[in-house]
Amino acid sequence: MKIVYFFAVAICVASALPQKQTEEDLPAPGLINKAQAKTPFYEDKCESTGINCLLNCDGIVENGQFQFCGNCSTFLVCEHSVTYYGHCPGDLRWDQTAQRCSEESETCEECYIPPLCTVTGPVCTPNDCTDLPNDFHQICDNCTSYANCLGGELVSMHHCPEGLFWNNLVPKGCVAESETCIECFDLAYCNTTGPSCINSCEHVEGDGVYQFCNNCVQFLQCTSGVTEPVYCPVGMYYDDNSQGCIETSGTCMHCANPEECESTGDICVRRCVGVEDGYYQGCTNCTSYVECDNNAIYYIECAPSGWVWDNAVSACLPSSNTCEECYTKY
Ligand SMILES: *[C@@H]1O[C@H](CO)[C@@H](O)[C@H](O)[C@H]1NC(C)=O
Ligand SMILES: *[C@@H]1O[C@H](CO)[C@@H](O)[C@H](O)[C@H]1NC(C)=O
Ligand SMILES: *[C@@H]1O[C@H](CO)[C@@H](O)[C@H](O)[C@H]1NC(C)=O
Ligand SMILES: *[C@@H]1O[C@H](CO)[C@@H](O)[C@H](O)[C@H]1NC(C)=O
Repeated sequence: MKIVYFFAVAICVASALPQKQTEEDLPAPGLINKAQAKTPFYEDKCESTGINCLLNCDGIVENGQFQFCGNCSTFLVCEHSVTYYGHCPGDLRWDQTAQRCSEESETCEECYIPPLCTVTGPVCTPNDCTDLPNDFHQICDNCTSYANCLGGELVSMHHCPEGLFWNNLVPKGCVAESETCIECFDLAYCNTTGPSCINSCEHVEGDGVYQFCNNCVQFLQCTSGVTEPVYCPVGMYYDDNSQGCIETSGTCMHCANPEECESTGDICVRRCVGVEDGYYQGCTNCTSYVECDNNAIYYIECAPSGWVWDNAVSACLPSSNTCEECYTKY
């Protein structure tokens, strides 16, 4: 089933596309410029539409549809690394997760500006080596470079071979999956990761593993009151229920705000991407419920006011058997 797009597909070999040009290079309005006809990038005002967008299909071996970095109304159709452009009808925008044109794209944002990343993990070195032992160290800018510190000075910056990332744990070096380095790891201003976290093992009597208040990629190993922070494998987070590292932690929330409720029960909906259209229990409170429509999320207040959503009944009732505000599993 790959017929649908071709109504709007313009054939365009990616390697033939010239460099993107700045506004200064644009011809004056009304002038017909031959180059313009061959350069669809003239029309793109944005550098990016999201973290996973592509400029073209170069090197993409997988055939399929991909989010385009130029704008959200166009998407890429990649066939054997050849770039074709598909166009969404009307005001619809490409949604990469839903793999379709939709009224509200959860993945595409025109002129997307990636968050300024300043931290790659709790152990990174901002570009100086003050007080650091003579060794190679993880930097805070990215995971593909690392610093050589000597006598408290940064003597040289080194780069991992393509596809490898710095791992600051023993054995230190460039690896395919780093256990210490995550780009855009934002540790700033975290005071807690949830009610069960601790900051140190100092007053902990039982030996064992504990959730760390500083972040979710580490946990604390307590042995006779001695604290040892241990990293989870990259992409995994400590979960206090299973006392180990898993992909989606039920207990650890990076920068959890102790005043704010995170959940209303075992089943609640935060995002509608990939969720079948319908009505669901929301995660923030019980006096409203969620409508998922075409991957978009809408909050609807219960009526009469003060009634609460019951997910078993799929309606608001005076009291609920499924919804509990500030629900915690632990
Ligand atoms: C989006 O980009 C494509 C490819 O460059 C272009 O053909 C199209 O006109 C652009 N759409 C808008 C709305 O700018
Ligand atoms: C990573 O950061 C270092 C230090 O700021 C820089 O020299 C290097 O170019 C960066 N690498 C990438 C791929 O951005
Ligand atoms: C973290 O705790 C400090 C000291 O208790 C407090 O000043 C700060 O506002 C807290 N930050 C957040 C984001 O809660
Ligand atoms: C319930 O949560 C939704 C989504 O965060 C919010 O829009 C709504 O105002 C909240 N209702 C109350 C009563 O706090």
